[in-house]
Amino acid sequence: MTHLNNAGASMSPAPVVDAVVSHLRREAAIGGYEAHAEAGAVIEAVYASLARLINAQPDEIALVENATRAWDMAFYSIDFKPGDKILTSRSEYASNAIAILQVVRKQGAVVEVVPDGPDGALSTSALESMIDDRVRLIAVNHVPSQNGLVNPAAQVGAIAREAGVLFLLDACQSVGQLPVDVAEIGCHLLSATGRKFLRGPRGTGFLYVDRTVLEHLDPPFLDDHAAVWTAPDAYRMRPDARRFETWEASYAARIGLGVAVEYALDVGLEAIAARNALLSTRLRAGLASIPGVHVHDRGSVKSAITTFTVDGTQPVEVRERLATAKINVSVTTSATAMYDMPGRGLEAVVRASPHYYNTETEIDALLTCVQDIRKTPAV
Ligand SMILES: Cc1ncc(COP(=O)(O)O)c(C=O)c1O
Repeated sequence: MTHLNNAGASMSPAPVVDAVVSHLRREAAIGGYEAHAEAGAVIEAVYASLARLINAQPDEIALVENATRAWDMAFYSIDFKPGDKILTSRSEYASNAIAILQVVRKQGAVVEVVPDGPDGALSTSALESMIDDRVRLIAVNHVPSQNGLVNPAAQVGAIAREAGVLFLLDACQSVGQLPVDVAEIGCHLLSATGRKFLRGPRGTGFLYVDRTVLEHLDPPFLDDHAAVWTAPDAYRMRPDARRFETWEASYAARIGLGVAVEYALDVGLEAIAARNALLSTRLRAGLASIPGVHVHDRGSVKSAITTFTVDGTQPVEVRERLATAKINVSVTTSATAMYDMPGRGLEAVVRASPHYYNTETEIDALLTCVQDIRKTPAV
């Protein structure tokens, strides 16, 4: 099996799987709450690991189920007024765009999409020119799902800080594949998932909230973990980012996430990024050299995500043909990226996303298979 679908869900290393399974076994042996209490220090350490990963403080981290829920908890905490502007990227992911459109519909906010620059990544000069006193939020992604570029997050952060505007960064596809440093980027809020390039379990995600903005954010849902019921008619929210969490969660998965973060830190994010660049450069160059194969990645800085189409064979069919050869890739459709893909004339692309543990031989196996598809296209 060659797994080149790390942008979908990566494969967890053995220590992650072992940690999850062993916590589940403890739950079965001594009881769920009792296993939770027993693993209290380990669960607490997950916050410290994530904080170390992104250069934040443990009290600025909330553990949630996925990147969308992390992003939503931040976004829906903002009290948008009619006419408030939300600036977003062309490469924005569907779930974020849908939430923005809901707030536009229900609260009268206005969304403006920042154009791309000549290289295809978000144009920071366009962003700068769109800032005015109605802008309430800049919500952009770091690495899009459907395009192998890296947006200039730190330049966006500098513009946001200068303008005094909240900056929410969707780092779902970047955390775990690149060094991500919230102090360097200057985002106030960052959402990410566990299952992709971090190699954590499914059903895990996290939100970073800069301490300085926490008090201005009123979460859309509160429970008795996020707040304390202090009197029959009163409650007090937690003073840390855990006000965005729920009390009930898969603690086995959270423990697994912590192990995945430590694993990534041990391998080293710089080393991971360098290896990913090597593998994806080999992949893109190989694909581009096959007549009738088109690579669609833009941006002057590239991620590991590699998108392409094959003349004469639909992306879904390419994925199936690769699956027959035991090579996992995915297909991304324009429904996930309506600000981006239709404008580039793309309805669907094949997405191959290597990660550092993949080998050059696996990349070459995909290239050979795509060559075969070109020789015998689907009818
Ligand atoms: C850029 C981006 N943002 C957000 C998400 C949503 O992540 P999740 O499925 O963990 O909610 C994805 C998922 O593919 C993504 O690629």
